[in-house]
Amino acid sequence: MEGVRQLRAVATAPAKVILTGEHFVVMGKPAIAMAVDLYSRVNVSKREDLAIHVKSSSLKASGSFYSGKYVPETGPADASKSLQPVHMIASHLLEKMGLKDQGLQIEINSSIPLAAGLGSSASVSVSVIAALSKLLGLKTSREETRELAFIPERIVHGKPSGIDQTTATYGGVITFSRDKGFEAVNAKRDIPIVIGNTGIARSTGEQVMKVRSISQERPDEFNEIASRAGEISARAKEAIEKGELGRLGELMNDNHELLRWLDLSNTKLEELISAAKSTGALGAKLTGAGGGGCMIALVEPGEEDKVADAIAKSGGEPFTVKTDREGVKAWLE
Ligand code: MEV
Repeated sequence: MEGVRQLRAVATAPAKVILTGEHFVVMGKPAIAMAVDLYSRVNVSKREDLAIHVKSSSLKASGSFYSGKYVPETGPADASKSLQPVHMIASHLLEKMGLKDQGLQIEINSSIPLAAGLGSSASVSVSVIAALSKLLGLKTSREETRELAFIPERIVHGKPSGIDQTTATYGGVITFSRDKGFEAVNAKRDIPIVIGNTGIARSTGEQVMKVRSISQERPDEFNEIASRAGEISARAKEAIEKGELGRLGELMNDNHELLRWLDLSNTKLEELISAAKSTGALGAKLTGAGGGGCMIALVEPGEEDKVADAIAKSGGEPFTVKTDREGVKAWLE
Protein backbone atom coordinates (compact mmCIF):
# COMPACT_ATOMS: atom_id res chain seq x y z
CA MET A 1 0.00 0.00 0.00
CA GLU A 2 1.39 3.38 -0.89
CA GLY A 3 2.58 5.41 2.05
CA VAL A 4 2.70 2.38 4.33
CA ARG A 5 6.24 1.33 5.02
CA GLN A 6 6.87 -2.36 5.06
CA LEU A 7 8.37 -3.35 8.42
CA ARG A 8 11.78 -4.87 8.02
CA ALA A 9 14.23 -6.45 10.43
CA VAL A 10 17.98 -6.26 10.07
CA ALA A 11 20.71 -8.29 11.74
CA THR A 12 24.50 -8.40 11.54
CA ALA A 13 26.92 -11.04 12.80
CA PRO A 14 30.72 -11.17 12.70
CA ALA A 15 33.20 -13.51 10.99
CA LYS A 16 35.77 -15.36 13.05
CA VAL A 17 39.41 -16.38 13.04
CA ILE A 18 40.75 -19.32 15.02
CA LEU A 19 43.83 -18.35 17.03
CA THR A 20 44.56 -21.94 18.11
CA GLY A 21 43.02 -25.41 17.98
CA GLU A 22 40.94 -25.79 14.79
CA HIS A 23 40.25 -29.40 13.80
CA PHE A 24 41.42 -30.68 17.20
CA VAL A 25 38.28 -29.01 18.59
CA VAL A 26 36.16 -31.43 16.53
CA MET A 27 37.99 -34.19 18.45
CA GLY A 28 37.21 -32.67 21.84
CA LYS A 29 40.23 -30.42 22.49
CA PRO A 30 39.87 -26.76 23.44
CA ALA A 31 40.30 -24.04 20.79
CA ILE A 32 40.44 -20.26 20.87
CA ALA A 33 38.45 -18.18 18.42
CA MET A 34 38.04 -14.46 17.97
CA ALA A 35 35.17 -12.61 16.32
CA VAL A 36 36.46 -10.03 13.83
CA ASP A 37 34.93 -6.92 12.30
CA LEU A 38 33.89 -8.40 8.94
CA TYR A 39 30.13 -8.89 8.90
CA SER A 40 27.19 -10.58 7.28
CA ARG A 41 24.10 -8.39 7.16
CA VAL A 42 20.63 -9.77 6.59
CA ASN A 43 17.39 -7.83 5.86
CA VAL A 44 14.07 -9.63 6.16
CA SER A 45 10.48 -8.60 5.53
CA LYS A 46 7.13 -10.32 4.94
CA ARG A 47 5.81 -11.06 1.46
CA GLU A 48 2.22 -11.20 0.29
CA ASP A 49 2.75 -14.48 -1.58
CA LEU A 50 3.97 -17.85 -0.29
CA ALA A 51 7.52 -17.60 -1.59
CA ILE A 52 10.60 -17.59 0.58
CA HIS A 53 12.62 -15.35 -1.68
CA VAL A 54 16.36 -15.24 -0.99
CA LYS A 55 18.83 -12.83 -2.53
CA SER A 56 22.55 -13.06 -1.85
CA SER A 57 24.97 -10.33 -2.93
CA SER A 58 28.07 -12.48 -2.48
CA LEU A 59 26.64 -15.38 -4.50
CA LYS A 60 25.21 -12.88 -7.00
CA ALA A 61 22.10 -15.03 -6.93
CA SER A 62 18.44 -14.75 -6.14
CA GLY A 63 15.46 -17.04 -6.34
CA SER A 64 12.45 -18.38 -4.50
CA PHE A 65 11.76 -21.50 -2.52
CA TYR A 66 8.19 -22.81 -2.94
CA SER A 67 7.49 -25.75 -0.60
CA GLY A 68 11.24 -26.34 -0.41
CA LYS A 69 11.83 -26.33 -4.17
CA TYR A 70 14.19 -23.67 -5.51
CA VAL A 71 13.28 -21.62 -8.55
CA PRO A 72 16.31 -19.53 -9.61
CA GLU A 73 15.81 -15.96 -10.75
CA THR A 74 19.31 -14.58 -11.27
CA GLY A 75 22.75 -16.15 -10.86
CA PRO A 76 23.84 -19.79 -11.02
CA ALA A 77 21.13 -22.45 -10.65
CA ASP A 78 23.35 -24.39 -8.23
CA ALA A 79 23.18 -21.40 -5.86
CA SER A 80 20.34 -23.39 -4.29
CA LYS A 81 22.98 -25.49 -2.51
CA SER A 82 24.33 -22.45 -0.71
CA LEU A 83 20.90 -20.90 -0.17
CA GLN A 84 19.32 -24.11 1.14
CA PRO A 85 20.56 -23.58 4.74
CA VAL A 86 18.93 -20.14 4.75
CA HIS A 87 15.65 -21.58 3.55
CA MET A 88 15.90 -24.37 6.07
CA ILE A 89 16.29 -22.09 9.05
CA ALA A 90 13.54 -19.75 7.79
CA SER A 91 11.01 -22.56 7.41
CA HIS A 92 11.99 -23.98 10.79
CA LEU A 93 11.26 -20.64 12.50
CA LEU A 94 7.99 -20.17 10.58
CA GLU A 95 6.87 -23.62 11.64
CA LYS A 96 7.83 -22.89 15.24
CA MET A 97 5.56 -19.83 15.10
CA GLY A 98 2.71 -21.75 13.43
CA LEU A 99 3.12 -19.50 10.36
CA LYS A 100 3.55 -22.11 7.64
CA ASP A 101 1.96 -19.95 4.93
CA GLN A 102 3.95 -16.79 5.47
CA GLY A 103 6.07 -15.58 2.53
CA LEU A 104 9.39 -13.94 3.31
CA GLN A 105 11.91 -11.72 1.59
CA ILE A 106 15.47 -12.45 2.80
CA GLU A 107 18.38 -10.35 1.55
CA ILE A 108 21.94 -11.30 2.45
CA ASN A 109 24.83 -8.88 2.13
CA SER A 110 28.06 -10.32 3.40
CA SER A 111 31.55 -8.84 3.35
CA ILE A 112 32.98 -12.17 4.56
CA PRO A 113 34.76 -14.19 1.84
CA LEU A 114 32.92 -17.49 1.20
CA ALA A 115 34.41 -20.94 1.86
CA ALA A 116 37.56 -19.29 3.18
CA GLY A 117 37.66 -20.46 6.79
CA LEU A 118 36.22 -17.27 8.27
CA GLY A 119 32.88 -18.74 9.29
CA SER A 120 30.81 -16.98 6.62
CA SER A 121 28.06 -19.61 6.58
CA ALA A 122 27.70 -19.60 10.38
CA SER A 123 27.64 -15.82 10.43
CA VAL A 124 24.88 -15.75 7.79
CA SER A 125 22.87 -18.42 9.66
CA VAL A 126 23.13 -16.50 12.92
CA SER A 127 22.09 -13.22 11.20
CA VAL A 128 19.12 -14.93 9.52
CA ILE A 129 17.94 -16.39 12.84
CA ALA A 130 18.28 -13.05 14.64
CA ALA A 131 16.61 -11.00 11.89
CA LEU A 132 13.69 -13.41 11.49
CA SER A 133 13.17 -13.64 15.25
CA LYS A 134 12.99 -9.85 15.37
CA LEU A 135 10.55 -9.71 12.42
CA LEU A 136 8.27 -12.46 13.74
CA GLY A 137 8.36 -11.27 17.35
CA LEU A 138 9.97 -14.49 18.53
CA LYS A 139 12.06 -14.08 21.66
CA THR A 140 15.21 -16.00 20.76
CA SER A 141 18.00 -15.80 23.34
CA ARG A 142 21.63 -15.81 22.26
CA GLU A 143 21.94 -19.38 23.45
CA GLU A 144 18.90 -20.44 21.40
CA THR A 145 20.33 -18.62 18.36
CA ARG A 146 23.60 -20.48 18.73
CA GLU A 147 21.79 -23.81 19.01
CA LEU A 148 19.41 -23.14 16.10
CA ALA A 149 22.43 -22.39 13.92
CA PHE A 150 23.45 -26.05 14.24
CA ILE A 151 20.56 -26.97 11.92
CA PRO A 152 21.99 -25.34 8.77
CA GLU A 153 25.63 -25.76 9.86
CA ARG A 154 25.25 -29.55 9.92
CA ILE A 155 24.18 -29.44 6.29
CA VAL A 156 27.10 -27.25 5.27
CA HIS A 157 29.86 -28.83 7.35
CA GLY A 158 28.90 -32.37 8.29
CA LYS A 159 29.70 -32.52 12.00
CA PRO A 160 30.79 -29.08 13.10
CA SER A 161 32.08 -28.46 16.62
CA GLY A 162 29.91 -25.36 16.91
CA ILE A 163 32.83 -22.96 17.29
CA ASP A 164 31.86 -20.87 14.24
CA GLN A 165 28.30 -20.07 15.25
CA THR A 166 29.28 -19.60 18.90
CA THR A 167 31.77 -16.89 17.92
CA ALA A 168 29.32 -15.27 15.47
CA THR A 169 26.65 -15.20 18.19
CA TYR A 170 28.62 -14.00 21.20
CA GLY A 171 31.55 -12.07 19.67
CA GLY A 172 34.81 -11.34 21.51
CA VAL A 173 37.53 -13.89 22.19
CA ILE A 174 36.32 -17.27 23.40
CA THR A 175 37.78 -20.54 24.48
CA PHE A 176 35.61 -23.32 23.16
CA SER A 177 35.42 -27.00 23.85
CA ARG A 178 32.90 -29.42 22.48
CA ASP A 179 32.06 -30.92 25.88
CA LYS A 180 32.65 -28.03 28.24
CA GLY A 181 31.11 -25.31 26.06
CA PHE A 182 32.60 -21.87 25.81
CA GLU A 183 33.90 -19.12 28.01
CA ALA A 184 34.77 -15.50 27.24
CA VAL A 185 38.50 -14.76 27.42
CA ASN A 186 39.41 -11.42 28.89
CA ALA A 187 42.05 -10.06 26.52
CA LYS A 188 44.38 -7.66 28.29
CA ARG A 189 45.50 -6.03 25.01
CA ASP A 190 44.07 -5.70 21.52
CA ILE A 191 44.97 -8.63 19.27
CA PRO A 192 45.85 -7.06 15.89
CA ILE A 193 45.37 -9.56 13.09
CA VAL A 194 45.98 -9.39 9.36
CA ILE A 195 44.10 -12.05 7.39
CA GLY A 196 45.44 -13.26 4.04
CA ASN A 197 42.98 -14.96 1.72
CA THR A 198 44.55 -17.37 -0.78
CA GLY A 199 41.37 -17.21 -2.86
CA ILE A 200 41.35 -21.02 -2.99
CA ALA A 201 37.88 -22.20 -1.92
CA ARG A 202 37.51 -25.51 -0.10
CA SER A 203 34.92 -27.44 1.84
CA THR A 204 35.20 -27.62 5.62
CA GLY A 205 33.35 -30.95 5.61
CA GLU A 206 35.95 -32.56 3.33
CA GLN A 207 38.87 -31.22 5.38
CA VAL A 208 37.26 -32.51 8.59
CA MET A 209 36.83 -35.95 6.96
CA LYS A 210 40.50 -35.96 5.99
CA VAL A 211 41.54 -35.30 9.61
CA ARG A 212 39.13 -37.95 10.84
CA SER A 213 40.69 -40.58 8.60
CA ILE A 214 44.22 -39.66 9.80
CA SER A 215 42.99 -40.00 13.40
CA GLN A 216 41.66 -43.47 12.59
CA GLU A 217 44.67 -44.67 10.61
CA ARG A 218 47.35 -43.37 13.01
CA PRO A 219 45.58 -43.08 16.36
CA ASP A 220 48.67 -43.04 18.62
CA GLU A 221 50.48 -40.30 16.76
CA PHE A 222 47.24 -38.39 16.30
CA ASN A 223 46.41 -38.47 20.01
CA GLU A 224 49.87 -37.22 20.87
CA ILE A 225 49.52 -34.32 18.42
CA ALA A 226 45.98 -33.57 19.63
CA SER A 227 47.07 -33.34 23.25
CA ARG A 228 49.82 -30.91 22.20
CA ALA A 229 47.17 -28.83 20.46
CA GLY A 230 45.12 -28.82 23.68
CA GLU A 231 48.14 -27.55 25.65
CA ILE A 232 48.80 -24.85 23.05
CA SER A 233 45.24 -23.55 23.48
CA ALA A 234 45.55 -23.56 27.28
CA ARG A 235 48.79 -21.57 27.09
CA ALA A 236 47.41 -19.23 24.43
CA LYS A 237 44.50 -18.39 26.74
CA GLU A 238 46.97 -17.37 29.46
CA ALA A 239 49.04 -15.33 27.02
CA ILE A 240 45.91 -13.45 25.88
CA GLU A 241 44.84 -12.78 29.46
CA LYS A 242 48.30 -11.44 30.32
CA GLY A 243 48.60 -9.44 27.09
CA GLU A 244 51.72 -11.34 25.99
CA LEU A 245 51.45 -10.96 22.22
CA GLY A 246 54.94 -12.34 21.50
CA ARG A 247 54.13 -15.53 23.39
CA LEU A 248 50.77 -15.84 21.62
CA GLY A 249 52.56 -15.49 18.26
CA GLU A 250 54.95 -18.34 19.14
CA LEU A 251 52.03 -20.56 20.15
CA MET A 252 50.27 -19.79 16.86
CA ASN A 253 53.43 -20.85 15.00
CA ASP A 254 53.57 -24.09 17.01
CA ASN A 255 49.90 -24.70 16.25
CA HIS A 256 50.54 -24.24 12.53
CA GLU A 257 53.22 -26.96 12.64
CA LEU A 258 50.60 -29.40 13.97
CA LEU A 259 48.19 -28.44 11.19
CA ARG A 260 50.99 -29.01 8.69
CA TRP A 261 51.49 -32.46 10.17
CA LEU A 262 47.85 -33.11 9.32
CA ASP A 263 48.63 -32.01 5.75
CA LEU A 264 46.16 -29.12 5.94
CA SER A 265 48.45 -26.41 4.58
CA ASN A 266 49.34 -25.81 0.94
CA THR A 267 51.89 -23.86 -1.10
CA LYS A 268 49.90 -20.64 -1.27
CA LEU A 269 49.19 -20.61 2.48
CA GLU A 270 52.90 -21.25 3.17
CA GLU A 271 53.90 -18.37 0.87
CA LEU A 272 51.58 -15.93 2.64
CA ILE A 273 52.73 -17.15 6.06
CA SER A 274 56.43 -16.67 5.12
CA ALA A 275 55.71 -13.22 3.69
CA ALA A 276 54.00 -12.18 6.94
CA LYS A 277 56.77 -13.58 9.15
CA SER A 278 59.56 -12.03 7.11
CA THR A 279 57.96 -8.59 7.58
CA GLY A 280 57.90 -8.95 11.34
CA ALA A 281 54.62 -10.72 12.18
CA LEU A 282 54.76 -12.17 15.71
CA GLY A 283 53.21 -15.41 14.50
CA ALA A 284 51.26 -16.78 11.54
CA LYS A 285 49.16 -19.83 10.79
CA LEU A 286 46.35 -21.09 8.62
CA THR A 287 42.91 -20.44 10.09
CA GLY A 288 39.79 -22.59 9.79
CA ALA A 289 39.75 -25.80 7.83
CA GLY A 290 42.92 -25.30 5.71
CA GLY A 291 43.67 -26.69 2.25
CA GLY A 292 43.14 -23.14 0.92
CA GLY A 293 41.09 -20.39 2.49
CA CYS A 294 42.90 -17.99 4.78
CA MET A 295 45.98 -17.54 6.94
CA ILE A 296 46.23 -15.09 9.82
CA ALA A 297 49.20 -13.09 11.09
CA LEU A 298 49.44 -11.62 14.58
CA VAL A 299 51.20 -8.26 14.45
CA GLU A 300 52.37 -5.53 16.80
CA PRO A 301 49.98 -2.56 16.77
CA GLY A 302 51.06 -0.23 13.97
CA GLU A 303 52.61 -3.00 11.87
CA GLU A 304 49.37 -3.96 10.11
CA ASP A 305 49.99 -2.12 6.81
CA LYS A 306 53.49 -3.51 6.35
CA VAL A 307 52.30 -7.09 6.80
CA ALA A 308 49.17 -6.52 4.67
CA ASP A 309 51.39 -5.18 1.83
CA ALA A 310 53.65 -8.24 2.03
CA ILE A 311 50.60 -10.54 1.84
CA ALA A 312 49.25 -8.63 -1.16
CA LYS A 313 52.65 -8.77 -2.94
CA SER A 314 52.63 -12.55 -2.49
CA GLY A 315 49.25 -12.80 -4.20
CA GLY A 316 46.95 -12.91 -1.16
CA GLU A 317 44.02 -10.64 -0.43
CA PRO A 318 44.73 -8.95 2.93
CA PHE A 319 42.12 -7.86 5.50
CA THR A 320 43.25 -5.94 8.58
CA VAL A 321 40.79 -6.74 11.35
CA LYS A 322 39.97 -5.92 14.95
CA THR A 323 38.07 -7.89 17.56
CA ASP A 324 34.28 -7.62 17.33
CA ARG A 325 33.07 -7.48 20.93
CA GLU A 326 29.31 -7.56 20.42
CA GLY A 327 28.42 -10.62 18.38
CA VAL A 328 25.03 -10.74 16.66
CA LYS A 329 22.79 -7.65 16.69
CA ALA A 330 19.23 -7.25 15.37
CA TRP A 331 16.80 -4.36 15.09
CA LEU A 332 13.63 -3.21 13.31
CA GLU A 333 13.65 -0.49 10.65
C1 MEV B 1 36.05 -24.45 11.16
O1 MEV B 1 36.06 -23.05 11.30
C2 MEV B 1 36.81 -25.07 12.28
C3 MEV B 1 36.98 -26.57 12.21
O2 MEV B 1 37.64 -26.92 13.44
C4 MEV B 1 35.67 -27.28 12.10
C5 MEV B 1 34.81 -27.16 13.35
O3 MEV B 1 35.33 -26.93 14.45
O4 MEV B 1 33.60 -27.29 13.19
C6 MEV B 1 37.87 -26.98 11.08
